[in-house]
Amino acid sequence: MKIVLLPGDGIGPEVTAVAQRVLERVGEVFGRTFEFESCPIGGNAIDDFGDPLPEQTLTACRSADAILLGAVGGPKWDDPNAKTRPEAGLLRIRKELGLFANLRPIQTFDFLVDSSPLRREIVAGTDIMFVRELTGGIYFGESGLTKHDDGSETAWSTMTYSTHEIERVVRVAADAARGRRKKLTMVDKANVLEASRLWRRVTARLMKEEYPDIEYDVVLVDAMAMHLISRPTAFDVVVTENLFGDILTDEGSMLPGSMGMLPSASIGSDGPGLFEPIHGSAPDIAGKGIANPLATILAAAMMLKYSLKLNEEAAAIQKAVDDVLAQGHRTGDLARSGEKALGTKEMGDLVVAAISK
Ligand code: IPM
Ligand code: MN
Repeated sequence: MKIVLLPGDGIGPEVTAVAQRVLERVGEVFGRTFEFESCPIGGNAIDDFGDPLPEQTLTACRSADAILLGAVGGPKWDDPNAKTRPEAGLLRIRKELGLFANLRPIQTFDFLVDSSPLRREIVAGTDIMFVRELTGGIYFGESGLTKHDDGSETAWSTMTYSTHEIERVVRVAADAARGRRKKLTMVDKANVLEASRLWRRVTARLMKEEYPDIEYDVVLVDAMAMHLISRPTAFDVVVTENLFGDILTDEGSMLPGSMGMLPSASIGSDGPGLFEPIHGSAPDIAGKGIANPLATILAAAMMLKYSLKLNEEAAAIQKAVDDVLAQGHRTGDLARSGEKALGTKEMGDLVVAAISK
């Protein structure tokens, strides 16, 4: 099985190196051979190739069984006048590989609940699977810029969706709900946006015809921003369009108390999926060896499950992470005052040692 690693920028290379070692260990224990190829993406790729997604990276990804990404971006490439940006590489790879569904599980961990900005009684027990549409909407719709004679400018970006784009991502979400608590919430802005009204019609019909066993409701996005922090345990699977999903999943990622624990999966109808931690490149701590590698390790577990169909191996990683945390080991982002903070590599070593059949 061929895995392409896209370490990227900032802490990306540190956390993907650890996840690779975890995968190698899983391979040893379960008798699987993973072949790794590392390719440039993001800011470093702009520096070296003038392109955040060099052709050779895309070619390698197309022929891979799965892709594990660290993170892209950093202040070095933040110039608003720059010709291209690291993030453009990420958007392009999603589009080129048809990765239309982005799965972002948001679960609280009991030992972390007290570091959540919300009170324990509100947040404890939260277990939401966000399914964000990833290759359509305002991110990829028509956009433009007109310069006027008086020096002012007009810019526009459009949110466009078609029936097929809505159906396929709603199916991913509804299938996920079937394996969970059988509840799906669709989030939109149908009181204002035409595109949302299409989402609402298409989703209602699809749910009625194909998923009568799933409890289905709709929530407006502004209200959802509120419900997510007032009653997060009310939700099971949540499906929404690209931009709303971007915003709501950042909000949701704070519920458990640290972003350093949350993985995500981007999948299409066929071909390799792309797996990554939810957190960014954290330039402030890059190179210090203190980043929490667990989100990337858990992304590797999602990769085994969703792309490589290795459920036992995925469960072994999940269990190793649980065990290490249960023993009280913490990286700096998780440690409370007085607790010892482990480095990236030390935490990785513990997870590697805890992998068993
Ligand atoms: C994410 C990120 C990206 C997005 C950026 C880096 C382009 O915020 O994966 O959520 O907006 O999709
Ligand atoms: Mn985002």
